[in-house]
Amino acid sequence: MDQDIDHILVSEQELKAKVAELGATISRDYAGKQLLLVSILKGSVVFMADLMRAVTIPCAIDFMVVSSYGGSNTMSTGLVKIIKDLDADLSGKDVLIVEDILDTGITLSHLMPMLKMRNPNSVRLCTILSKPTRRQTEIEPDYLGFEVPDEFVVGYGLDYDEKYRNLPYVGVLKSQVYAD
Ligand code: IMP
Ligand code: MG
Repeated sequence: MDQDIDHILVSEQELKAKVAELGATISRDYAGKQLLLVSILKGSVVFMADLMRAVTIPCAIDFMVVSSYGGSNTMSTGLVKIIKDLDADLSGKDVLIVEDILDTGITLSHLMPMLKMRNPNSVRLCTILSKPTRRQTEIEPDYLGFEVPDEFVVGYGLDYDEKYRNLPYVGVLKSQVYAD
């Protein structure tokens, strides 16, 4: 897999340090609250597994699968469809959405209002990566790991055609991989 990567954007060590920092901040901010970490599958599964262990206060976890109507893997278009909904009742909960990357923001601009209608105490967003230059909505992360340039990135949960999710770092794919 490493040979398909053009260059590394965020190393394993940088990810580890940042996740520890995010976990400490979240633990402080949500002390005494009913924290529910909501992972949007599948891209955020690696970040979720690391982040939840960096959180030192009691918390619950839940998972959601959404898809964009008419969207492919590399593009988000239109509305979101809930493929797998949450198990948890959100009333009174402090929901923290855990995402892999905030790109256009279209997915979350539809999802966050849907969750807010379920009577939670709060709904906020924690994302390990963000591509600010790609934004088409007003959604911004409440907790952010790293800003990345407008390049297609893989690793640390992010895929190209379902591959490279298990790379321990975030890197840019060689363009020849798309051409194949
Ligand atoms: P958006 O913010 O609605 O445009 O969609 C974000 C979703 O698109 C993310 O959760 C990823 O699944 C996917 N995505 C966006 N950019 C990349 C990338 O560079 N690599 C892999 N997946 C990406
Ligand atoms: Mg995703």
